Amino acid sequence: MQFIASSDDLTQLPPTSADARSALIVAIHSDGQLTAAAALLNQASNGAVVRLIAANPRCTKAGELLYTPEMQLADTSQRVILAGAGSQNKTLTEGDFHKIVKAAAAMVKSQSLTHLTSALSQLQVENRDSAWLIGCETAAYSAAHYRFDQLKSKKAAEEAPASLQQVTLLNDAAASPEIHRAVALANALHQGTTLTRDLANLPGNHCTPSYLATQAEALAKRYKSLKTTILDAEAMEKLGMGALLSVARGSSQPAKLIVIAYHGKSGKKKQLKNPIALVGKGLTFDAGGISIKPAAAMDEMKYDMAGGAAVFGTLCSIAEMNLPIDVIGIIPSSENLPDGNANKPGDIVTSMSGQTIEILNTDAEGRLILCDALTYCRSFKPSLVIDIATLTGACVVALGSHASGLLGNDSALIEALRAAGDLSGDRVWPLPLWDEYDEQLKSPFADMANIGGKEAGTITAACFLARFTRDLRWAHLDIAGTAWVGGGEKKGATARPVPLLTQFLVNQSQLGD
Ligand code: BES
Ligand code: MN
Ligand code: ZN
Repeated sequence: MQFIASSDDLTQLPPTSADARSALIVAIHSDGQLTAAAALLNQASNGAVVRLIAANPRCTKAGELLYTPEMQLADTSQRVILAGAGSQNKTLTEGDFHKIVKAAAAMVKSQSLTHLTSALSQLQVENRDSAWLIGCETAAYSAAHYRFDQLKSKKAAEEAPASLQQVTLLNDAAASPEIHRAVALANALHQGTTLTRDLANLPGNHCTPSYLATQAEALAKRYKSLKTTILDAEAMEKLGMGALLSVARGSSQPAKLIVIAYHGKSGKKKQLKNPIALVGKGLTFDAGGISIKPAAAMDEMKYDMAGGAAVFGTLCSIAEMNLPIDVIGIIPSSENLPDGNANKPGDIVTSMSGQTIEILNTDAEGRLILCDALTYCRSFKPSLVIDIATLTGACVVALGSHASGLLGNDSALIEALRAAGDLSGDRVWPLPLWDEYDEQLKSPFADMANIGGKEAGTITAACFLARFTRDLRWAHLDIAGTAWVGGGEKKGATARPVPLLTQFLVNQSQLGD
């Protein structure tokens, strides 16, 4: 799927090829007023738009669509979709616009359209500009058309209807730098989020730490600005990563530490210069280990590498845009299974930082692999560090699926992530990291325990990580509730927080301008 912007006249669109199924979508108001695009279309169709609205007054509400396949623009093969946008006297809210683009994307999909020309980004939405509307609209098409059929038999894939190939966004300012950047971001996010979804949906028997390592190498082949290095168990042993390796001991799949450097500023042959570090949990299947999880919905624990997958997707997006910054992606990857060699409750391990950890619950394994990756990231002298992890069920309880949990030790970084979340629609919400919570991690036998009791599970998990990021500018995103839509036929990866992280990096790259 590709997005392009154009300031063409919508009545003068070039005819599309014979095998294309193309449509034009314009907004209509409820009070007899036509949007500029609808007025043009009305003229070109000898008043058909006005007649249609008169016959279907309900279709002007936000989220309602009117599609009449028999209405085609003369001399072109364009079908027409009319999208309700309410009264012209009431500015649309963000929520209204979400409803409109969601309905549009569903219609495009159900009609198996291959080409779409949209005038929707010319609407007015409260406090938002055209660039934002473009981001919101394109994300809806990208999400609606995503399919994970790698593991379906050929027949199912062949039966699937044709899918959307090109969306032309009509905008008078199509040639402006703002719209240009918005379209580049939309295309980049389409690539990045698709990669993240594919990785996170792939089950544990396919998506192992070694598989993720090969995918990191494949990504570096795709983009010249990326360079991948894989550390195996032996290399990690030498570095003293006793916490990470203890988790992997319960599995027959060898652990990997995946390191992907993005040279957007420094030349590829040169060292990264104070890169932004993204550290993503890459636990390819979490059965809990000896502290085994209940059976119900355990299949979903294949997405316990969604933080790592988000690092892949974000690097893909920024490489696609050639963003002028340096970034280092680090993905500690392992399985967490019960086994004769697995961690046992009460075991004490020594992390790469030298701090010792009493493992009271083997299911709190994410922090064990992350703490060594966080210590390792210091060797790159990062300007700031963000870790991304499906870390706690408690975060799902606290924030549900609407916001990722956000904790950290730097208020400016936290504010910047919140702002990027609001702009991208991929929101985060802060939780406190107070010393009182940290005390819950005390252990009589080691420097700390790996769990902090029943209360405030998301915060004590972050307190644990904070002990490994002292004197770094650090933030932690708990994406347990946002990276996946659970249950039923619609279950699957959401690619969050790739939009948030990509927007954050775009903002960072513009700071020096
Ligand atoms: N991967 C899980 C967290 C999780 C739970 C992610 C639900 C997505 C959905 C993590 O490794 C885990 O098991 N955490 C434990 C921590 C507890 C033992 C302190 C949890 O949340 O139950
Ligand atoms: Mn776990
Ligand atoms: Zn886990």
